[in-house]
Amino acid sequence: MKLKKILHGGDYNPEQWLDYPEILEKDITYFQLAKINTVTIGMFSWSTLEPTEGVFQFEWLEEIINRLYAAGISTILASPSGARPKWMADRYPEVLRVREDRTRLLFGGRHNHCYTSPIYREKIEIINRVLGERFGHHPAVILWHISNEYGGDCHCPLCQEAFQAWLKNRYGCIEHVNRSWNTTFWSHTYQSFEQIESPSSIGETLVHGLTLDWKRFVTDQTVDFCAWEIKALKASGSAIPTTTNLMYDFVGLNYDKMASIIDIVSWDTYPVWHKREDIKVAWDNGMQHDYMRCLKHKPFLLMESCPSSTNWQAVSRLKRPGLLKAQSWQAVAHGSESVLYFQMRQSRGSSEKFHGAVVDHYGGCDTRVFREIAQLGGELENLPGILGSETRAKVALIYDIENRWAVEGAQGPRNEGLYYHRAAVKSYQALRKQGINVDVISMVQDLSKYKLVVAPMLYMFRAGIEEKIRTFVKGGGHFVLGYWSGIVDENDSCFLGGTPYKLMDVFGLRRTETDGLYAHESNSIHGVADLGDASVYKTDTLCDLLDLNTAEALYCYGEEFYQGTAAVTKNRFGSGVAYYIGSDAMQAFYDDFYGELLHAADVEPLVTGEIPKGIAINSREGADGMYLFLQNYNNEVVDISALELTGTLMQGENKNRLDAYETLIIKK
Ligand code: GLA
Ligand code: ZN
Repeated sequence: MKLKKILHGGDYNPEQWLDYPEILEKDITYFQLAKINTVTIGMFSWSTLEPTEGVFQFEWLEEIINRLYAAGISTILASPSGARPKWMADRYPEVLRVREDRTRLLFGGRHNHCYTSPIYREKIEIINRVLGERFGHHPAVILWHISNEYGGDCHCPLCQEAFQAWLKNRYGCIEHVNRSWNTTFWSHTYQSFEQIESPSSIGETLVHGLTLDWKRFVTDQTVDFCAWEIKALKASGSAIPTTTNLMYDFVGLNYDKMASIIDIVSWDTYPVWHKREDIKVAWDNGMQHDYMRCLKHKPFLLMESCPSSTNWQAVSRLKRPGLLKAQSWQAVAHGSESVLYFQMRQSRGSSEKFHGAVVDHYGGCDTRVFREIAQLGGELENLPGILGSETRAKVALIYDIENRWAVEGAQGPRNEGLYYHRAAVKSYQALRKQGINVDVISMVQDLSKYKLVVAPMLYMFRAGIEEKIRTFVKGGGHFVLGYWSGIVDENDSCFLGGTPYKLMDVFGLRRTETDGLYAHESNSIHGVADLGDASVYKTDTLCDLLDLNTAEALYCYGEEFYQGTAAVTKNRFGSGVAYYIGSDAMQAFYDDFYGELLHAADVEPLVTGEIPKGIAINSREGADGMYLFLQNYNNEVVDISALELTGTLMQGENKNRLDAYETLIIKK
């Protein structure tokens, strides 16, 4: 998708304001003032578009799209499947979702329909086809926004049948299912596919192969539904590209698969700012940006963000002045081609009436939030050269959703929490603090372009990852494997013969046991003195016990019966180096360790000089040069004169200091 401007705008619900023509009029004036160039319409408009079955009412939509277009504002047009009309639920109860306890839902809420139901599919096919015919060649419409935040699962009889067919396709015969799922355990052997039921709290949840396959099926069924929607929208020959808005750290779907059927990745971000240090929130959110970018290794869109405070977080703090801009520039710094908000005008009633918006209930443009948005709109217009530029990273973090499913369902050394996400963020931020770009990838992706790859808690080996790691290290790469890794296959069945599976020679060790620590407990790791490193770091949650073969110990445990045994190791293999981190160490360990490692792996930081705390650095490379972003997540001025910064200042005034939440952009 080739854009002329960074998209600025967001979700707009004119159907809520059809009785207020003066408001719709005013909105357009305000949007122009705020340099809004794009709005997303139609996510939840089904009952206005098709008020009774088969009767379509599109005039209002066409009129608003045309009026916006005349004012220089494009439309991202959504398919309405995120929420269905009441007439449909009443006439065709099969469209209503069935919960895992086998109760069918009543009409209400949203995002709660059966993706298998032939009737739901037929109804969305019809309306999407009509939408496609009417708007699929409209110059104002730049993107199809398919549904809204797909998620959840349905356990109705139709879905059960579809699941059985899916399993048949995957395994061929029932014996293969039984073997793969180890169903002889507790006498759970199946005789036929028809006997298999989806996981349920009143039935089966402990056959881990089944629970994993159910999640895979849910992804495939949702992706198939999305593809079905796209086909209908494009039936008229519409060439408009497609997206669907993904969510923060969402565990319900494997987004690799979703990304493969859409043209551009987009996602919705709602960080909880000001609850802890803002830089920590920024790292966590930055990791998600990188994850989304790496789904296609292409620029993505920030589809939704909140201009002020949300209404659904436990406490809704206002964003401090400057933070809205910082959050928006962060997206662009990580590869976004847009800054879009939820919502353009604050709704009057129902569940989101207190959710932040560009125009609030007061209805004027003389508000603090509006002013900041308008200012940002101006800044975004100044940097068209960023469009289409790419992020180059020599370092990757593996963060894999299927692995997360397995980790969280495994019933292992610590059912109070293994903290896979937290472990990934620890490594991620330690790398980012060194002033480098980082890719966040799944196990199915290619490793060969990186110098350093870090994989915390790679519990489940999938997609031939063990071979990829071996080849990567052998060929000269630096690889870091975390504790509790290489233990099970894709069905969550344990590997026999020692772990990390098929990599014991690469890492020069074998994990013999894993100790789960209570929340109030900790251990420590000590640098092996003759390496000149006498540092001590606290560790907690998990401690792998390691039996070394060719590996050398870099750190040893400080306590317990395994005191003095290896906790962190290094092994040369082929032309590369394989490191193993055996315990959940505190942040400072990763900060120090990766600092050294980047040096060893010959990864250059984006800037030279010591980076002050709370500063995030990113780069994007375009046809006209490299854009360097420096962001200050401290609520105070920071002196950055120690950094060597060459190039033209595109945004900001001073290369020696960053104001609170300020973003400097330098072009080289
Ligand atoms: C999600 C949805 C939006 C809205 C926002 C509120 O991202 O897609 O429709 O509900 O949350 O934060
Ligand atoms: Zn169903």
